Amino acid sequence: MPSTADDLSLLDALSTAIIAIDDGMRIRYVNSAAEQLLGTSARRAVDQRLTRALTIPDDLFARIRVALDNGQPFTDRQVSVEPHGQDPQVVDLYLSPYPLADARGGLILEINTIDRPLRIARDEAMLTQQEHARSLLRGLAHEIKNPLGGLRGAAQLLARQLPDEELSEYTSIIIREADRLQSLIDRMLGPTTRPRRDTVNLHEVLEHVRKIVIAGAPDGVQIRFDYDPSIPECLTDRDRLIQVILNIAGNSLQALNGSGRIVFHSRVVSDFTIGGTRHPLVACLSIIDNGPGVPENLTDQIFFPMVSGTDHGTGLGLSIAQSIMNQLGGLIECASEPGNTTFTVLIPLEIA
Ligand SMILES: Nc1ncnc2c1ncn2[C@@H]1O[C@H](COP(=O)(O)OP(=O)(O)OP(=O)(O)O)[C@@H](O)[C@H]1O
Ligand SMILES: [Mg+2]
Repeated sequence: MPSTADDLSLLDALSTAIIAIDDGMRIRYVNSAAEQLLGTSARRAVDQRLTRALTIPDDLFARIRVALDNGQPFTDRQVSVEPHGQDPQVVDLYLSPYPLADARGGLILEINTIDRPLRIARDEAMLTQQEHARSLLRGLAHEIKNPLGGLRGAAQLLARQLPDEELSEYTSIIIREADRLQSLIDRMLGPTTRPRRDTVNLHEVLEHVRKIVIAGAPDGVQIRFDYDPSIPECLTDRDRLIQVILNIAGNSLQALNGSGRIVFHSRVVSDFTIGGTRHPLVACLSIIDNGPGVPENLTDQIFFPMVSGTDHGTGLGLSIAQSIMNQLGGLIECASEPGNTTFTVLIPLEIA
C-alpha cells in the first residue's frame, strides 16, 4: 500500500475510487473518492469484507474471485453496484492484481462512476437549450418593448385631447394593459444587472425563505430542515438566491395543495462539475416535497419560460430561477416522482 504521505495524498486527489482487497476479499485500503462512493470512512471500511460495503452482481463476484486466484486483470463496464445503505450506481470497473506482503494475493479496484458524466453532458445540453430560449426571448422582448412604449405614450396624449370624460376609460385600459405587458416582459427577462458578490451564509438564506414559507403555509403542511453545518460562507448574490429558493419552495407549497411535507436540505460535495466547469466544492441546497410530482409530460420543459402545469401559473418561476443560477455560476436540477420531488440548487463555493 502507499507508504509515504505524498503517495497517499496523490491517491486521495484522484476522482477515481480506489479500493485494494486481499485474497479473502477484505478491504485493505480506500482512497477519498472510494470513501465517498461507499459513504463511509477509510477507518470503518478497512478490514470489512468488500461485499459488506458494496453489493455487486453475482457474476462480477465470481470474476473477482477468479482474478484473485489467477492474478489476471480485467475490465467491466456499466455495472450496477450498490454501496451499503445507498442508491445503486452505474460504474466502470478496472481490476488489476496487486501483491500484498501479508496475503496470498490482492487486487486493486479502480471504480469510475458514470452516472455523473452522463448527467454533466445532459446539464450542458440543457444549459445551451435554455440559453437559446432566453436569447430568443430577449430579442422578442426588445421588439415588443419599443412599440409598447409608443402605444402607451400615444394613449396618454389621446386621453388629454378627449372631449368626453367617459371616453378616457378606454385610454386608461390601453395604458393599464400596456403596463401589465411591460411588467410581464421584465419578469420574463429576469434580472439584467450584474449579480452582487455578498458574503452569504447559505443557512441564513434557507432559514429566511423557510420562515416566509411557514408564514404562508396552511396547517396541513409541515416544513422541516436538515442542514449540513459544515457548509462555509460563500460569495454570491443574496437577494437573487432568496428569489431562487422562494420560487422553488413556492412551487412545492402549491403542489402539496394543503397537506404534506417540505424539507429544506443542505449538503456540500467535493469535485463537482457544473456546465463543464469542475469545482472543488459545491453546496447543494435542496427543497424536497412529498407532493404528486412534476407532471410527466412537463419533466423536460419545466425550466423553459411559459411552461406551467397549473391554471393560474405564468410558468416563469423556474425559468427565472434557472437563469439567475446560471448567472451565479450554478445550476438547478430536478428529480421527481410521485411522493418525492427534489429541486437542488448547486452553488460553487468560492470560500469568502
Ligand atoms: N415541487 C413541484 N411539484 C410538482 N410540480 C412542480 C413542482 N415544481 C414545479 N412544478 C411544475 O412545474 C411547472 C413550472 O413551474 P414554474 O414555477 O416555472 O411556473 P408556475 O409555478 O406554473 O408559474 P409561476 O411560478 O410563474 O407563477 C409548475 O406549473 C408545475 O406544474
Ligand atoms: Mg412557480
